[in-house]
Amino acid sequence: MARKFFVGGNFKMNGTIESIKSIVKNLNEAQIDPNVEVVIAPPALYLLLVREHLSNGIEVAAQNVFDKPNGAFTGEISVSQLKDSGINWTILGHSERRTILNESDEVVASKTKVATEGGVSVIWCCGESLEERESGNTISVIEKQLSAVSAKIGNWKNVVIAYEPIWAIGTGKVASVQQAQEVHAAIRKWLKANVSEQVSAETRILYGGSVNGKNCKELAKEEDIDGFLVGGASLKPEFVDIINSNL
Ligand code: G3P
Repeated sequence: MARKFFVGGNFKMNGTIESIKSIVKNLNEAQIDPNVEVVIAPPALYLLLVREHLSNGIEVAAQNVFDKPNGAFTGEISVSQLKDSGINWTILGHSERRTILNESDEVVASKTKVATEGGVSVIWCCGESLEERESGNTISVIEKQLSAVSAKIGNWKNVVIAYEPIWAIGTGKVASVQQAQEVHAAIRKWLKANVSEQVSAETRILYGGSVNGKNCKELAKEEDIDGFLVGGASLKPEFVDIINSNL
C-alpha cells in the first residue's frame, strides 16, 4: 500500500518571532507537493504564532508534551492544552530529550499513550548512539525502544516513527542510504512480528539526521524511507526542496 510521504521540521530551541515569521512566509508561498504531509515544530512559545500564520496545508507540532492532565506541573504543557490551541501533533522521544533531559523509554511511551489517546498525533523518535552502532547494537537498541512504546499504546494509526541515529544529528554526517534503509526495514519487520502486518505496512518511518537539500532525493528513493524529520535544514529555504524530494 502507498504510504503518504511525510516531512517534519524540528526547529528545536531556535528562532525568534521575526525569523519564524519569515520561515512561515516562505513556506506559505512555496510550491509544495500536495502528496506530502508536512508538519513543523517551533519552540512552544511560538506555537500559536505559527498556527495563526501558517497555511499551504502545513500542520504545527509541539516538540514535547507532558503525560499528566492539567494541574500542578510547573513548566509543562498538557495534551488538552495543545488540542485547545489547535495543535494536533507533537514530537516525542527526541534523542536530545532522552540524553540531555533523561527521558526514559517508559516516560516516552507514557507520553505517547496519553497524546495519541488525547487526539494528538505523535512523531515518535528512536535511534542509537555511535558507541551502540560501533558495538553492533543498533537494532537491539531500537527494538528495546519499540517494545517500550508498543507495551503502552494500543493504536498506531496516529503514530509516525522517526529513526534518528544520534551520531548523525547536527553533525553533517548523514547515514548512508544503505544504513538508513537497513534500520527502517528492521523497524518495519519488528512491527510486523510484534504488532501486526497492517501496522507494519501503514506506519510511516521517517529518517532524521543531517538531511539536507542535496542528500534527501537519494534517501527518499528507498522502499522503507517514508519521509524525513529535519532539524537544521528546516530553518532554511532548502526545507522546501526536502518537502518536494519525493516528486
Ligand atoms: O529531529 C530532527 C533532528 O534531530 C535532526 O537534526 O539538524 O541533523 O537535521 P539535523
